[in-house]
Amino acid sequence: MCFEAACRARYAVTDVLYNCPKCGGLLEAVYEGAQPDAAELRGLWRERRLSNAPLDQSGVWRYREFFPFLDDLRHVVTLREGNTPLLDAPRAARYGGLDKLVFKHQGFNPTGSFKDNGMTCGASQAVRLGMRRVACVSTGNTSASMAAYASAAGLQPIIFIPHGNISYGKLAQALEYGAMTLQVEANFDQILALVRVLAERLGIYLLNSINPFRIEGQKSIMVEMMDQRDWRVPDWVVLPGGNLGNTSAFGKALREMAAAGLIDRLPKLAVVQAEGSAPFYDFMRQPAGDAFRAVEHPETLATAIKIGDPVSWPKALLEVTSTGGIVEKVSEQEIADAKAQIGLCGIGCEPASAATLAGIRKLTASGRMRADEDVVAVLTGNVLKDPDYIYRYHTSQLDAPGGKRLTSSFGNAPTVVPNDADKIAALLDT
Ligand code: F0G
Repeated sequence: MCFEAACRARYAVTDVLYNCPKCGGLLEAVYEGAQPDAAELRGLWRERRLSNAPLDQSGVWRYREFFPFLDDLRHVVTLREGNTPLLDAPRAARYGGLDKLVFKHQGFNPTGSFKDNGMTCGASQAVRLGMRRVACVSTGNTSASMAAYASAAGLQPIIFIPHGNISYGKLAQALEYGAMTLQVEANFDQILALVRVLAERLGIYLLNSINPFRIEGQKSIMVEMMDQRDWRVPDWVVLPGGNLGNTSAFGKALREMAAAGLIDRLPKLAVVQAEGSAPFYDFMRQPAGDAFRAVEHPETLATAIKIGDPVSWPKALLEVTSTGGIVEKVSEQEIADAKAQIGLCGIGCEPASAATLAGIRKLTASGRMRADEDVVAVLTGNVLKDPDYIYRYHTSQLDAPGGKRLTSSFGNAPTVVPNDADKIAALLDT
């Protein structure tokens, strides 16, 4: 169905569409029929944790009643995604100005990012539609995830990435999982426009987050979080914002869980963007009614969220406002230091994910978030996604876009020592 309130045109679930043919709006999955009883669902979902059936072992498909778009579950392609932990992080809480902080770490997914939650659904829909080839443009994680799921399903993955702007960890995954990899001399936003034309012309199924089935899968992140919290609603859910697919998915999940009686209120969504790539932050501060303006040359070392023209902003706008949420932006220095603090918790994450803690620190400092509030921050990607960034930070060689050297406030450089027990012992004794 079309997401635009003025249109709401309806289409069949098997139509291959990424935008509304009538008005050009975004599309969303909408389900008809009676909602299962909330208590029954909670019981069923809990029971499935003891099951050895592949679908029940998936932290996405375990909640399949919440996105019933497939008519035949034999189309599902699963790598046992989801099942990501809630991790207590007292040290990060102190750094962020909170009494307590819990991370939901999506980096524990099979390909190391939250994209797997959505990709299992998008790839399953591609199988159901009888597609042979799938494509995406990506800042890295989507392509790694799509490559894995497409190959697991016997589909051909074709990925488009901005040349020189994705981390080797992510590029390496796409190559290893057998994706045909095209590095384009353009930024993410320009390549997305290109891929949309190519997908249409060549009949390739597009698996970017404009694909509504990916958004359905990403809803499971919030459902699983609530299940793990025994349905106690936090005050805030904090997440990084790039193309704003995750913000859209989280908000939709929360609204639908409230409508189904699974939760009794909505947590506030706090979306954090990188300063050089913050069109949604800017938009939320403009006078109401002003047009959305893309950032033409987005810049940030957190390459996962280096997106100047986020396609899902209309959905994200609805979700942030309907939860009474907030959008914040943070600097390169703030991201780098927050990331090191998350590392010192023994947790670790990729740069984009660390924008959450940097944002929390800013929100508590300005009194918009209280120290005693119940906060869950979503870490979207695994620490090993971007080792180059980490090495540079810890050896004081990390330069912000534009060349300014960042301060390695929590740097931890390796020490070169001679092969000499006495000298090493002396060093370790001090
Ligand atoms: N965090 C990570 C680690 C990401 O990879 C992304 C997006 C985001 C946050 C932002 O999420 O786009 O839903 O707001 N990465 C995309 C990609 C765009 O191509 O992998 P969003």
